[in-house]
Amino acid sequence: MKAAMKTVRTIDELRAAVRAWRREDPDAAIGLVPTMGALHEGHLSLVGHALSHARLVIATIFVNPTQFGPGEDLASYPRDEARDAAMLEEAGCDLLFAPAPGEVYPPGFATEVRVRGLTDVLCGAHRQGHFDGVTQVVSKLLNQAQADVAVFGEKDWQQLAVIRRMTRDLDIPTRILGAPTQREPDGLAMSSRNRYLDAEQRQVAANLNRVLAAAGESAAAGADPREAEASAVSALIAAGFDRVDYVEIRDGETLEQVSVPDGRSRIFGAARLGRARLIDNMALPRPGATA
Ligand code: PAJ
Repeated sequence: MKAAMKTVRTIDELRAAVRAWRREDPDAAIGLVPTMGALHEGHLSLVGHALSHARLVIATIFVNPTQFGPGEDLASYPRDEARDAAMLEEAGCDLLFAPAPGEVYPPGFATEVRVRGLTDVLCGAHRQGHFDGVTQVVSKLLNQAQADVAVFGEKDWQQLAVIRRMTRDLDIPTRILGAPTQREPDGLAMSSRNRYLDAEQRQVAANLNRVLAAAGESAAAGADPREAEASAVSALIAAGFDRVDYVEIRDGETLEQVSVPDGRSRIFGAARLGRARLIDNMALPRPGATA
């Protein structure tokens, strides 16, 4: 039986808790699950994934201002820490770190962390500075917690790729693990931003997954990837999306464009619907495999 989950708000308290754990049981692996709150089953699956690799799990809730662009939803991003904390405790989380913005970015804060290349494409091309904010805060969280493993969702595949590259480049010793995308029964990837959708938009939203899967299949079956991407964009607009930021077939590791799909290729999409910007991605079926 686990002790009740504690919430801490300062880096000193977080470090003291981790030190106490390490003293008590030097062999117990510690896992970290960074989030911005407004939790759903997708987030909780990351806690479960962390628990399969670590005895003790720290979740963080911090709506990181530096990863939101001007005109994005920083002010209105859903916040409900009490509900989130109850869900985390139920999922088996041991410690919640929920710092205030001033704890993370004290006056005079001046350091940037940028991963070049991987951040220029896909969401990076449409959300200026977004990934610089992500790498800035995630490098800090990894340093603050000094966990053995940290878990990130494959739903944000580009973010996962950028974080893997950052930890490798900066010799951050925490092992980065990816966890599979959790979906609603109709295929829509779970997201905190799905709550921005009204009933009608919610119906339209499920087409993102369907259209990407169909385009991925047709490219894997030999269609020209650029044509498969273009038809997917048209299909999303026809289905009722307001705007499509991109549909692109790229290599899952380098994120470079793919002309001939192979076993590492993925299809990525981002589209706007009302106030929501939805993203999804999936592996292409193996070339030659029947769907
Ligand atoms: P947030 O959007 O709250 O997501 C927190 C983590 O949950 C990320 O690793 C994300 O990929 C994962 N996640 C979200 N929806 C998921 C789903 N349907 N299935 C599986 N995992 C899912 O991503 C961020 O916050 C921030 O950028 C953060 C990494 C916390 C840095 O601020």
